[in-house]
Amino acid sequence: MLYLDNASTTWPKPKRVRAAIRDWLDNGGGSPGRGGHAFAQRAGNVVSNTRRALARFFNVPSENRVILCPSATDALNLAFKGFLNEDDHVLISAMEHNSVVRPLRGLARDRRINLEVVPCDTEGRLDPDDVCHRINDQTRLVVVSHASNVTGTVQPVEIIGEQVRARGAFLLVDAAQTAGLLPINFQTFNADLLVFSGHKGLFGLQGTGGLIIGDRISALRPWREGGTGFNSLAEEQPLVWPEAFEAGTPNVPGILSLGEGVAFVAEAGLSALRQQEMERFARLWEGLQELDGITLYGPPPGEGRVPILSFNLKGWEPEDVGNILNHNHGVQVRTGLHCAPLAHRSLGTVPMGTIRLSPNHFTTATEIRQTVAAIRSMAETVLPW
Ligand code: ALA
Repeated sequence: MLYLDNASTTWPKPKRVRAAIRDWLDNGGGSPGRGGHAFAQRAGNVVSNTRRALARFFNVPSENRVILCPSATDALNLAFKGFLNEDDHVLISAMEHNSVVRPLRGLARDRRINLEVVPCDTEGRLDPDDVCHRINDQTRLVVVSHASNVTGTVQPVEIIGEQVRARGAFLLVDAAQTAGLLPINFQTFNADLLVFSGHKGLFGLQGTGGLIIGDRISALRPWREGGTGFNSLAEEQPLVWPEAFEAGTPNVPGILSLGEGVAFVAEAGLSALRQQEMERFARLWEGLQELDGITLYGPPPGEGRVPILSFNLKGWEPEDVGNILNHNHGVQVRTGLHCAPLAHRSLGTVPMGTIRLSPNHFTTATEIRQTVAAIRSMAETVLPW
């Protein structure tokens, strides 16, 4: 099987990630702060090592501001429910994922916030001036995906952040599709909240993600409360960061895998990995763009994107293309709306969506050729309808 769905979750995971998980299962590990024995201590070290590795990776001065979460979705919920107040005005881009849209629509439905969507162009790009013009006295938060999970379009978040801050609001960047793929220096990024996924470009297991809280934010309400492994006499949630936000037994094997994944990216070098994956992506784009009846979405290969390629074939439904790629050619891709209906509205691809290919540096040149050949055979099929 050939795997081209790295935007959903990366596969394979690097060797050191797999070896660390095997070692954890074979040689034991407990729960951090739950007991003073060797296995609990080992777990505590895993959590603090991963937190430290993430702080270093994103250049965050205080490790206490790196919150480990069970997913990017959980991190977004923490940010929205912990930060927003009654009657806040919130701006989001028209390329956002349902992990952003749904919790905010829920808050708006309960009349707790006012939500406004900023349109994007047909390549999924946001105009920073348009964002700026929509900021008013009530605007507390602007939410932007660093890169779209549908088109791979990268937004100019540093510029947006500068303007948002100048107007007294805060910026949340959803880096689910860019953490580990594009350099993110939190200190120069102009974001106040940064959400990342652990199991995509950072090569951890599913069940990992996190939230980084910038120093313009000094208070955040936990949205999940419970055991923290310390101060057990307190019947109310301790407000010590980062544990205040991490109630419940953490996913230690997942956190271990995330630490190893970050170490892998740091060691291989993010720019070397990016060069390889963008080279694969360019071959894919070039091979597909010459096919009859194909529409490619998002910007062409270059700086302003990550390697996510959405397309449609005239006369074909995306789901059928995905099924044929899977069953006849062994090529695994994701089709449909990719949990991002707003983004598909921007592209004009509602309700059927697109076929999405997301290679990474593990994808070989041969696999790219096989995929293009498989799609070519469909493009050349004379359809009876
Ligand atoms: N958000 C992930 C995707 O785009 C799951 O597939």
